[in-house]
Amino acid sequence: MGRCLVPRLPALPVCLAVVQLLSPCSAEFAVVGPPEPILAMVGEDTDLPCHLSPEMSAETLQLMWERPGRRQVVHVYAHGQEDTPAEEFRGRTSISREDVTAGKAALRIRNVRVSDNGTYQCYFQDGDFYAKAQVELQVAALGSDPHIEMKGYEAGGIRVTCTSAGWYPQPQVQWRDARGQSLSSKAASAAADPQGLYAASASVILEDGSGEGVSCVIRNPLLGQERSPRLSIPGAFFRDTQPRTLLLSLTLLCLAVLLLCVICLLWRRRWKRSQALLQEERRARAEEAAARAELQRERSAQGWTNSWDRPGE
Ligand SMILES: *[C@@H]1O[C@H](CO)[C@@H](O)[C@H](O)[C@H]1NC(C)=O
Repeated sequence: MGRCLVPRLPALPVCLAVVQLLSPCSAEFAVVGPPEPILAMVGEDTDLPCHLSPEMSAETLQLMWERPGRRQVVHVYAHGQEDTPAEEFRGRTSISREDVTAGKAALRIRNVRVSDNGTYQCYFQDGDFYAKAQVELQVAALGSDPHIEMKGYEAGGIRVTCTSAGWYPQPQVQWRDARGQSLSSKAASAAADPQGLYAASASVILEDGSGEGVSCVIRNPLLGQERSPRLSIPGAFFRDTQPRTLLLSLTLLCLAVLLLCVICLLWRRRWKRSQALLQEERRARAEEAAARAELQRERSAQGWTNSWDRPGE
């Protein structure tokens, strides 16, 4: 620039123009956002940082975060006042200005939701001049431990379903055998719930011998994290899957029921017979008693007559 001060005449206008173009830039600033997306878990708090370049104080600057894709102003800081125009962020955002003298400010979002995922822009404004930078927020959620359910016998095996909810983004579900090899399974993913979280399930038909040490793996592709419960189905369960053994067990069951009926019948008959015997005995006893009473009466009547005949005895 020093050379401009002593210019040769034809170069002067060009030089002046260049100086005019450059001077606001060099006097002002640029804004820099994080090079990588910010990763935040659903329900946690996160900071979207931005800073000035070159390093200078941002104390007197106005700050604004917006979501360009949604034409939504998330949070504004101006003249010492904060404002959250967007309804869905109200009460959840603030600006951390601890390092504002070093040109750093961050938008703090509390209790992150799935809907917060996306691109943000931070603006630093000084009078008429402003500069902005982009910040990507990637939201993730690790779902619940998978729930495993045996649905029943099917196609010579047992159908087993693995289900888990509360994932973001959409998880990958896979069944693996004991050696870690992928088993062919039928995956079904449900639509997101009202919070935007996904559930996923996969079902597989396990045949005899493949029931040992299988696992259902649910993976969050963003986090690279998995949940994988192991499952063992003892061979005994599979024996019932063969129709012949099923028939055999049915026959055995029928036989058992029949046997029970026969025992019941026999027992009833015995009971009836013993009841009849008892009744007969009772009747016989009653008859005997009656006969004895008769005899007694007769005898006492005789006694009377005897004593009447022989009064001295
Ligand atoms: C979440 O936001 C990130 C960053 O903007 C984007 O790359 C990604 O596609 C978004 N995820 C979904 C599922 O929309």
